[in-house]
Amino acid sequence: MNMHLNPEALLDPFETASVDQLRDHQLQRLRWSLNHAYQNVPLYRQRFDALGLHPDDLKTLEDLGKFPFTGKNDLRDNYPYGMFAVPQQDVVRLHASSGTTGKPTVVGYTQNDIDTWANIVARSIRAAGGKRGDKVHISYGYGLFTGGLGAHYGAERLGCTVIPMSGGQTEKQVQLIRDFNPDIIMVTPSYMLNIADEIERQGIDPQKLALRLGIFGAEPWTDELRGAIERRLGITAQDIYGLSEIMGPGVAMECADSRGHPTLWEDHFYPEIIDPVTGQVLPDGQFGELVFTSLSKEALPMIRYRTRDLTRLLPGSGRPMRRMDKITGRSDDMLIIRGVNVFPTQVEEQVLKIKQLCECYEMHLYRNGNLDSVDVHVELRPEHQHLDAAQQQAVCSELSKQIKTYIGITTRVLLQPLHSLKRSEGKAAHVFDKRG
Ligand code: DLL
Repeated sequence: MNMHLNPEALLDPFETASVDQLRDHQLQRLRWSLNHAYQNVPLYRQRFDALGLHPDDLKTLEDLGKFPFTGKNDLRDNYPYGMFAVPQQDVVRLHASSGTTGKPTVVGYTQNDIDTWANIVARSIRAAGGKRGDKVHISYGYGLFTGGLGAHYGAERLGCTVIPMSGGQTEKQVQLIRDFNPDIIMVTPSYMLNIADEIERQGIDPQKLALRLGIFGAEPWTDELRGAIERRLGITAQDIYGLSEIMGPGVAMECADSRGHPTLWEDHFYPEIIDPVTGQVLPDGQFGELVFTSLSKEALPMIRYRTRDLTRLLPGSGRPMRRMDKITGRSDDMLIIRGVNVFPTQVEEQVLKIKQLCECYEMHLYRNGNLDSVDVHVELRPEHQHLDAAQQQAVCSELSKQIKTYIGITTRVLLQPLHSLKRSEGKAAHVFDKRG
């Protein structure tokens, strides 16, 4: 059968299944995936053997809890191909996550993996409100990052016209958005803001553009930022989640009929929530660390991969798959400031409540003696540049007070000249920790 003739017909075998059918499927697939990993990846075999476990010991979905976790370090320690489960000639694609320090983590895909990925991204775009024939402008970076090519194959699979712009060249992005009239844009939310600034700088009325839907992800973003993007561009903004180790974009998608709670594509990725300290599996509804086991991946099966992303599982709505809370932070991004746990998104939430401020912000952390201090850098919006010194001071005090009230930390808020904070072209950097 030609997969491209009637893409929609092939997209959603489990979206209309019952929960029981989904659980049956997951159990079968989990058995396959554990066996595949055990037979073909020495690390899994050693770890299972050390615990006296065999894949056949999985009789129920709950038995998965007996199996060991995998983490980013396992991929690094087995760099580059040590965790691949198929011969090299069956790997048709590699991606890698940049990693701020040391070696990148390398991930691989067979042709079937690429097909599955295209199908779930197509499903994601469709669930967000996209359809065959839509023009999709992709500003996620192409290359080793999974964002660009992941979105690209999915949009093509749905039958969309893809504009593979990649990240950067912001002026040109806007020219193409104006001239090519895309219906959908796929980009990180922080880069969308940068593009929105450029649209305004070029004197284009964003409301007159054809764009109606944005599919944003690859970094945490708040509902306040969603509201700002929707207002500024006159589009609907939907959240797409994913990570390279598990596939790339499209592991979960905020469906048009269930805003705020992305649906996990559980027919391919089995989710668990664990207590990040004890590793204990937590019941649905409780917050903890998201863990995935891949159910269909051939080249790089992942068993109980610890994502570091914090959320909780919620019942499905309309589909049998469970949903999760929008991810607003990962344990690695959590800052401890004078003993208070702070996620950068909490600061974003407060910045966006103040109408005189641009959406961009930076947190600069210092240590004075034994004490942490935090400077929050922000910019006044173009239309508020005329504020006098006293009015500017009032804006800074307001933000500082809000942060103290809602987050519990003392900060110094510093206004920076318009356009002086570095704008994102991909994943935004909000935190500059100079505490050593
Ligand atoms: O960021 C894949 C992706 C590309 C997702 C494009 C969505 C759109 P990595 O570079 O491996 O993969 O980074 C994965 O980014 O563990 C989360 O911490 C974070 N992340 C991804 N999507 C979201 C989201 C891609 N929607 C890591 N909300 C993940 C919050 C997200 N965080």
